[in-house]
Parts: sequence; structure tokens; C-alpha cells
Amino acid sequence: MKKNIITLVFSFLVLSLSAQKKPMEEFVSDLMSRMTLQEKIGQLNLQVAGDITTGSAQDTQVGGAIADGKIGGVFNLKGADKIRALQEIAVKKSRLGIPLIVGMDVIHGYETIFPIPLGMSCSWNLEGIENSARIAAREASADGICWTYSPMVDICLDARWGRSSEGSGEDPYLGSLIGAAMVKGYQGDYSRNDNIMACVKHYALYGASEAGRDYNTVDMSRLRMFNQYFPPYKAAAEAGAGSFMTSFNIVDGVPATANNWLINEVLYKQWKYDGFVVTDYGSIGEILSHGVGEDLKEVSAMALKAGTDMDMCSMGFLTTLEQSVNEGKVSLTDIDRACRRVLEAKYKLGLFADPYKYCDKKRRAKNIYTDENRTAARNLAAESFVLLKNENNVLPLKKQGVIALIGPLGDNRANMVGTWTVAYTPERYSTVKEGLERAVGDKATILYAQGCNVVGDAAVQEAGAFGKPVPRGDDAKMRAEALAVAAKADVIVCAMGESAEMSGESSSRADIVMPDVQQKLLKELVKLGKPVVLLNFTGRATVLTWENENVDAIMNVWFGGSETADAIADVLFGDKVPCGHLTVSMPQAVGQVPLYYNSLNTGRPVQSGADKYYKYRSNYLDVRNDALFPFGYGLSYTTFSYGDIKLSSAEMENDDVVTATITVKNTGDRDAYDVVQLYIRDLAASVSRPVKELKGFERIWLKSGQSREISFKIDASMLCFYDAEGNTVLEPGKFDIMIGADSRHVKTTPLILKGSKERVETGRAGE
Ligand code: BGC
Repeated sequence: MKKNIITLVFSFLVLSLSAQKKPMEEFVSDLMSRMTLQEKIGQLNLQVAGDITTGSAQDTQVGGAIADGKIGGVFNLKGADKIRALQEIAVKKSRLGIPLIVGMDVIHGYETIFPIPLGMSCSWNLEGIENSARIAAREASADGICWTYSPMVDICLDARWGRSSEGSGEDPYLGSLIGAAMVKGYQGDYSRNDNIMACVKHYALYGASEAGRDYNTVDMSRLRMFNQYFPPYKAAAEAGAGSFMTSFNIVDGVPATANNWLINEVLYKQWKYDGFVVTDYGSIGEILSHGVGEDLKEVSAMALKAGTDMDMCSMGFLTTLEQSVNEGKVSLTDIDRACRRVLEAKYKLGLFADPYKYCDKKRRAKNIYTDENRTAARNLAAESFVLLKNENNVLPLKKQGVIALIGPLGDNRANMVGTWTVAYTPERYSTVKEGLERAVGDKATILYAQGCNVVGDAAVQEAGAFGKPVPRGDDAKMRAEALAVAAKADVIVCAMGESAEMSGESSSRADIVMPDVQQKLLKELVKLGKPVVLLNFTGRATVLTWENENVDAIMNVWFGGSETADAIADVLFGDKVPCGHLTVSMPQAVGQVPLYYNSLNTGRPVQSGADKYYKYRSNYLDVRNDALFPFGYGLSYTTFSYGDIKLSSAEMENDDVVTATITVKNTGDRDAYDVVQLYIRDLAASVSRPVKELKGFERIWLKSGQSREISFKIDASMLCFYDAEGNTVLEPGKFDIMIGADSRHVKTTPLILKGSKERVETGRAGE
């Protein structure tokens, strides 16, 4: 016993002291030379921490397993004390004292919650988004967390998929910049104790689940993977993301978690990734449900050999890998590789030097939900709102008269934050009603009525609530009350749409219109003949065709986070000018999905803007092809005009740089942001290329009446595409250069690439 204690104390001292001196490779090799096979496998096991009470952590199943060296990391446990209790078991009770890596889904903020990622992306504000990740890291790390399962960079073209709320929309270029910005924001250089490790997810193609149904089949060409879906994962890897998470779906028929091509070949060999790969929740076990493999032992071996390093919650690695090694089905080299990558992550985070680095109790009061953090969240929320319609300049509202606030989201706290808010503290957040009341003070009267349920069917509403309920009542009675309240008002503001958990994981919708009873109430409100403003709460692109025809103003507010209420008041009353631009195409009808601006032309296209059906053309009998609101779209309280594009040269060689310049003028009477967008089309390539692709943008601030020349430098890298092996290809020919305020309204000019064809091998995937 005494000898054990001495060994433990000694190994802890050796670990912590030597970590500060030895370089990572040497330190990890030395540590691994002292580890048994079971201890190595233990490092590959990630578990939910469960409910821990500080004093009794060691008596829990997880506590016992940590002491036995059977757990490498835990996740989704809130509280520095509790985390410290588990960390102490790892450090003081396990044989080698290896610290735990402690994760959480800190997706868009910790206690200060930022807009859902889809909303954030509509700000096009990369600095603001990076800062949101930095703040999330500072708060989470003040509470013991050192690893977040974010950014989620899955491209999604189908708004039925509930998890489109967690990503940055439909564009690979913008998605890449956002993914990289978030990685930088979370991680910094790990030298401090307020940076945490990012985990890029879900690798790969999860956003392409067929029919938008969560966890569904994915099947796509490699050309499309490399050009449309992979770029954000690659960009996040290149930004130095410490870890990747595999996805639930299949890729080329093989579950991503066991997909050797995807992980070993593309991620590690082709993109030269140097972090570690964790599975998604239970996804090793789910390989069997896909109909692949015989049993947990076989699929665990498949996953490990494909390049997966850590098993989240399947217990497959822990319970089967030793036997697989003994049977010669898994090599020690594979175990060592995975163990090394996990230990390296802990080293990079500085956990060997100080296992309690992230458990400083004093930081909570200083770092979490501070005024500074809340201001950043409020600003970014306001920037995420997209003004879709503003007939007769109904907005901004004046702070005067009587304003009726109607709708199931008007006086609700928990629903303001949207999905994925493990650490949130809703009791501290305001409702829209409170935000409006605070903003108008005694200058105007705010009347409120809930007006209806979220969804008429109680079971559907309940299924979409997931811990964030909206009270239910009798629809007819609530509607009558709301109409009576609205009759007294000068203007009606509707807080309607989806409740927070109607998007997010396992929250797919087959129809994406305003839910039934809300639509019914809205129709009655419109009949009152007063100005109606719709604040559309949503975690996805929704269909607003009727609303667009009948409501005066529509502002898409997504789920703005903890400061939603004040941010809405800021924009509604004009203290801030709306500046969000859509990062998803909003359809006219659900039957159009998947809908995206960067589509291929087909052999029988109809022109964008076509207003009728054409026989033997690629269109529908009943609905036109265009989005109701296109990618990149967003109104302001001011107006902007765009001049014509001037190119520094109409032709270029492969090594040339051509400058495209356009003059943008603020022609209205408010100072405001605009997002100037550059799109390019390759008109004559060896494979079919999109009708346009975003290749640059600049978010500019223009004072009323001010104009500015905006220039984009166009070089060969912006004219390339990937072939089906992931090599970069540059082909001479004609390109269209387009600049505009959204993907539909652009000025166009041709550019000729005169150079010769080039193919740059970026890797050896598939060889
Ligand atoms: C989700 C991941 C998440 C993980 C851990 C899974 O169900 O797909 O996005 O990070 O759970 O909570």
C-alpha cells in the first residue's frame, strides 16, 4: 500500500515536472513506454461524465473506471469543482496519473450564448465570429472545460435537416472561413489557460443526409465531395484544429467512423492533418446498424484501423481491442498511433504540466457572463438578423404609441437561445417582451398576448420542446385574446416561428412552413389592417411565401442567444441598422429542396428570374426555380447602389493577378454595413461547374451618401477546382466575374484565362 502511494506520488511528479521540459514527442514516447496495453486502450475511451457530486466522484462508475485507467476523457459535465474531482482521481488514483481531457458541446457560447451558428454566419463578420469562439473558450475554460465539440462545418443544402442550425449554411467558401475563424478563436496557441481545443465535426458529409432526415443515408460523387462539401473540413484542419469528430453517416457505403479512405487517406495523408479523431456518440456501435461488420469487436477494429483514435460512448475500444490484438486482428502499431495522438492532445493543452490548469475556481466570477461578453453577444445577435422585407419602411419602429407583441416566442426565456446550450442559465436571460419594455421605457406601451401554441398538435410541440417548453393553452381562446390586444395597438409585432429545439439534432421537419396555429393567428392579425412585423424565429431556412405576400415587414432573427431580447429591441427601434445576409437560400416551397445558389446549370436550364413554366426545361409545373430569398440577401434601413465592374485586364495568364473594382454607394440616410460579394463562374471546363461560386466578400461600413471603390484581387487559385481525387485543376477559358449585394443581383463581366492547363497534386488519396 505504502509502496503504491510512493509510486503514485512519484509518477505524478515525474509526469508534471518532465512535461515542462521534454518536447512533446519525447515526453509521450517516454510515457507510452511505461504504459500497459490496457492503459493505452483506456486512453482511447471517452465517456459521458454522468451526474457527479463532488465528494462522491470516486464512488461513481466513471470515477472507478478513471482510477482503473479505463477512461481517457469525459464530457458534458458542468462545474469546475466536479471536473476537478474527476481530474484528481485520474491524477492521484490511476497508476500513471494521466490527466483527463474534458469536453463539452460548447457550440455557440457557454453561459453567454451567441446566436446559433447558422445565425452567426449571416453576420458575415469573421472577426465577430472568432471573438465569439474566444469568449466561449474563456467561459468554458473558467469552468473546467478544455475541449469543445465545435465548429460544426457540415454544408447543408436541405433545410428540412434540423442540424442546419448548427452549421454555417450552404457555401463552402464562407463555411471554410468561418470554420477556420472559430478554430482560431477557441484554440489560440494553447499557451494560456483560457483557450480550449476545437473539434471539427462531423467528418464528413453529415449535412447531406437524404431528404433532410437526420442520421439518414448519404451518397455523393467524389467530385462533389471535394468541391462542395470538403473545403470547410480542410480549412479547419489547416487552421490547426486539435481534433476531428467522425459523422454518423456512410460515405461511399462505408460508415464514416470506419472509413479508411476518408480518415487515413484524405484527412491524414492528403491534408496532412496532425490532430486526433474521435467518433460521434456511439457511432462505432452504430456501424453494425448500418449493416456493416459482424459484431462490436470487428467494427471497433475497423474503426481503429481506419484512423479513428477515440471512442465516444460505444465502449467498443475498451471492451474488445485487447482481444483483437491478441488475435492478431489489430496491431500494436495502430493502438500506439491512437494513444499517441490522444496523449499529444493532452500535452498540447498543457494538462501534463498542470492537470488543474482549467479548474481555477476564482475564474468563474471574473470570466463568465460578464458585461463585456454579453455586449459582444448582443452585437453579434443584432448582426445576425436578416431583414427580408420592409414594405413602406415600417421598420424601424418609433418608440411611441401602443405596440402589440403577439406570439408563442414573445415572452419565453429558454427558447431565445436555440439548440445546443448545455451550460446555459435561462433564468438570467430576458424575454422579447422584457427587451422591448426596457427599450421603450415610458415612451410607448407594450401589450402582450401569447396568441397560440407553437404547434396545434400537443405531441408534436412536446417532441420539439426538449427541455425548453412553451406553455400550452386553448388555441381558440388564446387567439381571441391576442386579436383583442392587437386591436388596441398601432403596430403588431409577431414573435413566431419555430421553438428552439424544433431544429438541432434529431429535429428534422418534413414541412418547413410556419406551424399551423401560428399561421392561422397571423392571418387573422393581418386582417386587422394594421402594420404587421414578423420576427421569424427559426433554426433553418423556412418557407415564408404567404408571409412575404401579406406581412409588411419580416426579420429573420434565428435564435439570437442569451441577449436576443435586447438585440431585437436594438434593431427593431433602429438603434442599430440590420446588416445580416442569408447564408442559405430560402425556398418558395419545401418541394424545391435541396436548394442552393451554387448549383450546376443542367443541360436544359431556365434562366434565373424566369416567371413561367417551360416545357422540356429543368423546372416545376407549379413553382419557379428561384429561391424566395437568395443566398447573400439581406435588406438594410438604408439603400446601396452598385456601379459596373472594372477589370484591370480582361485576360490573364496563370500567374497573373487581375483586379476587379466596383463602386458601392450608400444612397439612403443611415450609416450602415453592406456585404459586397464576389462570385465567379467557370464557363467551359472539363467537368460541369456551378453557375456561380462565392470567391470573396468584403463587409464594409458606409456613411449615408458615402461611396467607396471595392477591389478584389483575382488569381488562379480562385479559378481552380478539385478533380475526383482531390487534386487542384486549373483550366484555361472563359470565366464570368460577378459582384453584387447578393447571389442574384450581380453585375457581370467576362475574364479570359489564357494560360495552360495545370494539375497540382494535393495528395495521394485513393492510391
Ligand atoms: C452529436 C454531436 C455531439 C455529441 C456529443 C452527438 O449526438 O451528433 O454533435 O458533439 O453527441 O454530445
